[in-house]
Formats: sequence, C-alpha cells, structure tokens
Amino acid sequence: MIKKIKIGNLTLKNNLFLAPLAGITDSPFRTICLKGGAGLVWAEMVSSQALKHENKRSNKMLFIGEDEHPVAMQIFGSELESIAISTKKADEFGADIIDINAGCPVKKILKSNSGAALMYDEILLGKIIATAVKSTKKPITLKTRIGIKQGQISGDKLAKIAESEGASAVCIHARYVSQVHSGEPDLEALNKVCNAVKIPVIANGGVENFETAKKMFETGAQAVMIGRGAIGNPSIFKNIIDEANGKIPKPLTLENQLKLFLQLVESNTKYYGEKMGILRSRKVVGYWIRGFDNSATIRQEFMKATTLAEVRQVISEMIS
Ligand SMILES: Cc1cc2nc3c(=O)[nH]c(=O)nc-3n(C[C@H](O)[C@H](O)[C@H](O)COP(=O)(O)O)c2cc1C
Repeated sequence: MIKKIKIGNLTLKNNLFLAPLAGITDSPFRTICLKGGAGLVWAEMVSSQALKHENKRSNKMLFIGEDEHPVAMQIFGSELESIAISTKKADEFGADIIDINAGCPVKKILKSNSGAALMYDEILLGKIIATAVKSTKKPITLKTRIGIKQGQISGDKLAKIAESEGASAVCIHARYVSQVHSGEPDLEALNKVCNAVKIPVIANGGVENFETAKKMFETGAQAVMIGRGAIGNPSIFKNIIDEANGKIPKPLTLENQLKLFLQLVESNTKYYGEKMGILRSRKVVGYWIRGFDNSATIRQEFMKATTLAEVRQVISEMIS
C-alpha cells in the first residue's frame, strides 16, 4: 500500500500526501506535515487572476521554505493568460508540482467560472490543462471531484481529459460537489476513475486513519491525500505508514502534542508577524487539543494570549 511513486519526472518517497486546505496548508503547516512523514504536501489554492495582477498576499502564498519540499502549488482560475502566468510564477517560486483546482464548491469561486464550475465546461478545462502544461516543465496535476451529484459520475471523463492534455496525475476528491465536504466518499465511483486512466490517481476524502486509508488504496488509487485528518495531527502520515508496515503506531503524549503546537505557533509568528501568526494559530487550536480531558480550559487560556511570550507561558503551564 505505501510505496515510492513517480509523478511526471518527480519521484516521491511515499504515496501519502497532505491535501490542500485554504487557510490551513500554508508554509509553516506544510513544513510540520513533511516532518510528520507526508510524501508530498499541497499548498492552499491561489487565484491566478490575483497572481497575474501581482497581488502581494497571493504572491506570498507561493513562498516555499528551504526545508519544504516536495510541495505542490495549486492555482484556480478560468482565463488562459492568467493560468500561463501563474503556472510560470509557481514554477519560479520552486513548486515541484503545479495543480489546477477544478473541484472547489465555494460560491465566490464558482462565480468566477473556476473550481468546480470547470467540471461543467470540459473544453475549457482541457484548454486550461494544456496551457499549464505548455507553461512549465514541472508536472501538472488536476484536482477535481468524482461528479456533480450522486448518480452523475464525471470524474472518469475529467481524468481522461487531464491525461490527454498532458497532466501527470489526477487528484480525485471522492465526494460529489453536492456533498461539499461531508458524507461518505463514493469508493465505487473512485474505482471507475482509477480504471479510466494510466496516470496516477491520488484519492482523497474522509481519510483519518490506517483503515480509511487502506480502503482508499483498495480502489486502485496509487496515492492518498489527507485533509482535515492532518490538522492538529501531522504525525498521521507516519502513524499510517507504520501501521501499513506492521508496526504499532505511537500516538503523541499531551506534552509532545502541545510542544509541537508551540512549534507551529512560533513558525506562524515568524512567517506572518506576531499578531497575525497568533490569530492564524487560534483558528486551529481546537484541532490540536481535541480528545484531551482539559481541552476546554487550554483553549480558553490560549484565546486570551496575544503575544508569543504569553502563548509560551500558557503552554508551559499546561505541560507542567
Ligand atoms: C477548510 C477547507 C479548505 C479547503 N481548501 C481547499 C483548497 O484550497 N483546494 C482544494 O483543492 N481543496 C480544498 N479543500 C478540499 C480538501 O483538499 C479535501 O479534498 C477535502 O477536505 C476532503 O478531504 P478530507 O475529508 O481528508 O478533509 C478544502 C477543504 C476544507 C475543509
């Protein structure tokens, strides 16, 4: 189940990846997930239009740290010129893979004819992939969904389009657009996609442990991506790999979990500045302490902290 995988000209040490999560899979978190054993980490989606217009915030989203490889950058958009520009930019910033988003169901993205809207326009989708492929020597991938709604599987057709336009792999979120981000993934439909193409299929949706990862691999997928299961649990990659190799995974102790979270807060403050770094960390603190007896107290105290020194104080009190 766990093995090396080749995507285009890139060889990855394993086939268990971090999925893109807007607002979460930024440079500091990606670095922690690579340390947690991920074979490849995916950046949050960036607007190709914003990159074309040199938007500062979007440019910063392309930043890749020295110890942050291999990494896939994801762009969304529907205009070919901006796709070409942003693909080249992501390449220049050091992305190992450039991925096209054709699965995001958020209204604002759909309105711009991007994300899951591209699932309705196969001709445009094909042109977007062909444009991206022409703009770089790095592998291009497509991330899309199994279909629009139950009974309407289109992931296989979209994967074939991606393959014929030169994509090196296709990532399939095995939920329908109508399911947004919840409900059971459709593994039968996923199997259909896996049989439709020769390029690797990277499967995703609801993977939270060894059992759910195994089920995904059993569909014929060559790699699996983990999204929310990695928030607050970046060792999930190592744990699943260990279990696949017959080892007993060692969950982190509360102390080590909090120490790792502190490392993330420190990286966030370094990357975004103290105020923004702490605000970003507040968004995910709940995930890092879920399951612990005194999680409500830890969360309350953390929310009061406004400086890194205060965060360190709160965490050291919780550990002692
Ligand atoms: C908060 C959030 C943000 C997301 N952002 C992105 C994104 O930027 N690009 C993308 O392709 N998918 C995005 N997704 C979808 C995930 O990559 C993934 O396909 C989905 O969460 C299912 O995987 P999971 O069940 O393991 O979380 C997002 C999902 C969530 C919940």
